[in-house]
Amino acid sequence: MDTLTKVLYVGKPVVFLLCLVPAATIVAQAFGLAGGLGANPIEAIQDHFGNWGLRFILIALAVTPLRLISGRNWIGRFRRMLGLFAFFYVAMHFLAWLVLDQSMNWQAIIADISERPFITIGFAALVMLSAMAATSTTGMRRRLGRRWQQLHNGVYAVGALGVWHYWWQVKADIREPLVYALVLAALLAYRAWYRLRGRKRAQARAHARAFDSAG
Ligand code: HEM
Repeated sequence: MDTLTKVLYVGKPVVFLLCLVPAATIVAQAFGLAGGLGANPIEAIQDHFGNWGLRFILIALAVTPLRLISGRNWIGRFRRMLGLFAFFYVAMHFLAWLVLDQSMNWQAIIADISERPFITIGFAALVMLSAMAATSTTGMRRRLGRRWQQLHNGVYAVGALGVWHYWWQVKADIREPLVYALVLAALLAYRAWYRLRGRKRAQARAHARAFDSAG
């Protein structure tokens, strides 16, 4: 077994179990363990899943910068799993709202999605994330070709919509959404810088080639 296979063989199940910890925590709280759910259990469940959904979107977005900065390509092998966990936590956040908060009252659900802007934004982000989760397989990646990358680049927009959705509903204390916004801005800035650097290097190579052939 080579080193890469060993890292993935041990690392994947370990990361998978770690990603389940936030879900296990809220289940434990629902059973009265780990401090319980507090005075408003529905809100506690919804907020917990919403926060972890957003955290996992940012964690999945951090994979490529980490891989490029560290030079360890195996880090990239965890991106799909982390992205699918982002979808899982956002879907649970949505289901908690649908079932526990709205009691599956479709009229109220449609009214909320169409009339409350912060919910419309959250819903748009969920639709985009669902399209990414549905096309996350290797087969779909091959089938969609260039369009796959275009679709999956949309994860930055999902992150921005997620932060906006959170920011819009806070009344006074914006500290938490601000932290999410700063992390997202740093990830976006790194990506823009990396692309610009790649373009400049390609231009420099093209100039050098043109200079060589002229000489
Ligand atoms: C990518 C998609 C989404 C992300 C990242 C996200 C994230 C969040 C976050 C971080 C919060 C604040 C939690 C807190 O106060 O600590 C929140 C609250 C909320 N979200 Fe979302 N959300 C998303 C999609 C949705 C969708 C699709 C719906 C419903 C259609 C929704 C409904 C709500 C509601 C009602 C609240 C307020 C809960 C409360 O009463 O405190 N969200 N969301």
